[in-house]
Amino acid sequence: MTHPVDLPQSAGYVDLLPDVGAPDNETRLKLLEQRLRAEESALFAPAEAAVLALQGKPASRAHVMCLLLLARQHQFNIEFGPALKCSSAAVALARSLDDSAVRANALKFHGISLFEAGYLAESIPIHMEALENARKAQNPVDISETLNNLGVSLLHAARYGAAQECFQQAADVSPASALTWLNKGDLLLEVGEIARGLQAAERGLALITDFESVQWKVVRIFFELLLAQLRVAIGDIHQATEHSRLALEEATHTGELGSRVARLASLLVDAHDASVSSSAISSLLDEVRRNESHFTLYRISLNVAVAALQAADRPEEALRFLREVTELRMAQRARVASQVLPSGIAERSLPDLDDLADARTRGYFDTLRVQAARSAIATDQQVEVLVELAIRAELREEDTFSTGEHVYRVARLSELLAREANCSNEEIANARLAGLLHDVGKVFAPDQLLLKRDTLTDSEKALLRKHSEDGAGLIENLKNKTLLVVADAVRHSHERWDGDGYPEGLQGESISIAARIVAICDSFDAMTHWRPFRKPRTFASALSEIEVGSDSRYDPRLARLFVTLLRRLQRETDDLDRYLAEGAENSPVVQEQRRLAKLLRPQRETL
Ligand SMILES: [Fe+2]
Ligand SMILES: [Fe+2]
Repeated sequence: MTHPVDLPQSAGYVDLLPDVGAPDNETRLKLLEQRLRAEESALFAPAEAAVLALQGKPASRAHVMCLLLLARQHQFNIEFGPALKCSSAAVALARSLDDSAVRANALKFHGISLFEAGYLAESIPIHMEALENARKAQNPVDISETLNNLGVSLLHAARYGAAQECFQQAADVSPASALTWLNKGDLLLEVGEIARGLQAAERGLALITDFESVQWKVVRIFFELLLAQLRVAIGDIHQATEHSRLALEEATHTGELGSRVARLASLLVDAHDASVSSSAISSLLDEVRRNESHFTLYRISLNVAVAALQAADRPEEALRFLREVTELRMAQRARVASQVLPSGIAERSLPDLDDLADARTRGYFDTLRVQAARSAIATDQQVEVLVELAIRAELREEDTFSTGEHVYRVARLSELLAREANCSNEEIANARLAGLLHDVGKVFAPDQLLLKRDTLTDSEKALLRKHSEDGAGLIENLKNKTLLVVADAVRHSHERWDGDGYPEGLQGESISIAARIVAICDSFDAMTHWRPFRKPRTFASALSEIEVGSDSRYDPRLARLFVTLLRRLQRETDDLDRYLAEGAENSPVVQEQRRLAKLLRPQRETL
């Protein structure tokens, strides 16, 4: 920061600040932009008031840039409410300018402000728009930065396939970007690929050549923390200690952010050192609370603290703690919302699914259950929450682009099959809902398990099999009588006609009809579509598999009806998948995923 000693701080700025009454403020705005770039701290407050007062006046590049410099300053100071106020004003102005570089810049800052303030879901479409504009402006640095920002939001939303794609493309665009490798390392830590994570982190760290500026010092501290986390994950406390020492050393002149990150690294190591662990853990818990207003730090500190509690064999406390910090986060978001509610952001009465989707522990989901039950009165609204969770579970499962349409296709097929089987209207509706929600319990499965490439061990298989019971439990917890039948169908969607299924080994007609229907439709749809490590089977071969399984796996009568139904559907529709997934047209999550796939895979369009 430079301080203009020769300038009386209040009076000196009068000629510099734009004036809402003046006919033309352009020259002043340009001057102001320069001075803000020089980080004159006393200038920020009066400049902010003057620039925000200009809203509604014709936009200019300098006007947008002033707002962005103010937003950036607030970001540095961990003041995300005011940062959002400036960045959303900048975006509104930039959208009216025909300049994709300025738009890309405004959207970039806005996306970061949203993310750091905890508006994860809202940050994703903004980063996507920023990427479109950065590509139009053909600026490789902006493209790579924006891909990284988008990837980070996706990573935190547990959309690993898409996040991975972003980091890959960022690395292609600018191979020497250390930040890309830092993000990649974070992702690999998150999904439990420690060896590759270490490679990425070491590679990224070696790319940093600036040893002077504070900004890069802070980045290096983030690298040391990541390396310490990775080392701890494989039990190498010795190496982890070395990284935390380096982080602390680096942090001596970096200000608040750097020292908080370094402190986390050293607490992480201490928490795993038997002689000091209990005091380190309580300091860690304090640290999480301190970081609640900074999304990145909050996330990292939370992960570190929960890992430490688990390693110390204190799972009950981990849960209680998770619940407490979840409440804190909600309170923090409410505070930001009350400071400023930029356009497009409304506090939702329903729980924020993104905050919950990537949580690896049940504490989050207990909170969700309670909240969903409390805040959603109508069955439709409850179902909406659950369907969104089910889609997110599906998006999390795939390592490439999953579409989120599987649940819709299974629902449609189940509805049609129930109709074919002469079920009552109520049974038909229940079969459809059971189809939508059959795998919602996968939200509880740990990421590492869903993403594992190798064969699962027996205990891992058992854990994954819990998803049908977990899903049923989630639905039952809503205490909505009309959904109890659906919960039962979800619980038994992996039972087999011959009694060899799970969880209860029910046989024949003791399995509810909705569960028997979903079992067939789910198998068929899974067989005919890409899975991470399996090609889709042809329509005919999947149908013959259903026929072969009738009497053992599936209800023979339903299996016969299904085969006839599918042959007819295939004759009568040009695009069966599209027909079956029609329900997905109304899902914002699916639509966003489609847009994302298009954005990150433009070549798909030309195929
Ligand atoms: Fe399932
Ligand atoms: Fe499924």
